Amino acid sequence: VSRRDLAGRRVLITAGGTREAIDPVRYISNRSSGKMGYALAREAIRRGAEVTLVTTPTRLPLPEGAEVVPVESAEEMHKAVIERFDAVHVVVKAAAVADYRPAAPAEQKMKKQADRLFLELVRTPDILAELGRRKRGQVLVGFAAETNDLEAHALDKLRRKNLDLMVANDVTTPGAGFSVDTNIVTLFDRQGGKETLGLMTKDEVACRIFDRVIQ
Ligand code: C5P
Repeated sequence: VSRRDLAGRRVLITAGGTREAIDPVRYISNRSSGKMGYALAREAIRRGAEVTLVTTPTRLPLPEGAEVVPVESAEEMHKAVIERFDAVHVVVKAAAVADYRPAAPAEQKMKKQADRLFLELVRTPDILAELGRRKRGQVLVGFAAETNDLEAHALDKLRRKNLDLMVANDVTTPGAGFSVDTNIVTLFDRQGGKETLGLMTKDEVACRIFDRVIQ
């Protein structure tokens, strides 16, 4: 079906895992592939939205028709998202943002020294929590990838970050989470609604998420 139910709407989507520099050639990252975020961008474009995709480097083809903003670190993503927030109607934060970054990235490539190396990490800004504090009518959608106590953690983040919709997935379940083309998610909304979706492709999950955003 072709629904143009996002026509005239500006949708910002973040995708991929952030990279936090250790030195000029090394970084800390995570297993996010960017697939869920790219599926969301394609679906929003299909529905007529004006889409901005803030993305870390991935192996995926860029969605046609999206404005693409390339970033690497959590701080770069933070800046890109905050700058655009007032001008958009919907934000979907599918990116896996690092919670910590190296405190002082080395300016030169680090040399091998002792047997042990201690790396000091500091917290990155929680982008979504900041959007939750700043929002003025935007629909905010967050993701929670959990390995345990899925519902409790998802509901806690929904409230704490002042979201409208939380997409929770148990990353320990086969067919769900990082790298694969499918996902098994539960949608929690701020009104207390809970919708458990079965195993489906990330394209289908994207469609169901925007069905809820429209509501
Ligand atoms: O890391 P956490 O499980 O709290 O992530 C939940 C949501 O918050 C995700 O949508 C993620 O993109 C977002 N997040 C963020 N900035 C961070 C950490 C997480 O926007 N520093």
